[in-house]
Amino acid sequence: NLERTFLAVKPDGVQRGLVGEIIRRYEAKGFTLVGLKLMQVSRELAEQHYDVHKERPFFSGLVDFITSGAVVAMVWEGDGVVASARKIIGATNPLTSEPGTIRGDYGVSIGRNLIHGSDAPETAQREISLWFKDEELVNWQPSV
Ligand code: CMP
Repeated sequence: NLERTFLAVKPDGVQRGLVGEIIRRYEAKGFTLVGLKLMQVSRELAEQHYDVHKERPFFSGLVDFITSGAVVAMVWEGDGVVASARKIIGATNPLTSEPGTIRGDYGVSIGRNLIHGSDAPETAQREISLWFKDEELVNWQPSV
């Protein structure tokens, strides 16, 4: 069941030099990178992206943070990639995410948790079309 998911290395992940390490984990797992760009996120995009959290007390802080520095936006493809990518990321709070996950290995703060990943296939479709134009995605399959 071939799926696509949206992942974004947040400003803390970029600043800490974890972009390569994060991409490495998904490549090593065997997923296919079909979209990749370094971005300065606008407030408008951030607010749309985090729309489900707009009533939460941390919403404006979340938007401030994601717009505070460079972000690496990615689309990955593979069987079951949506749930698997979330597993590789680990739980939202890095203090409780398992060692071996990205947040478990590198994070300590819920507000600075390094990476975003779509939580379901429908969310992934919404986020991919929000962050990427069709022509920014490359349709290719690994040959083995
Ligand atoms: P993520 O799951 O990628 O998307 C929602 C984000 O909101 C989450 O990561 C956290 O970074 C952030 N978040 C969730 N709960 C809190 C909180 N209590 N305080 C600050 N940020 C939070």
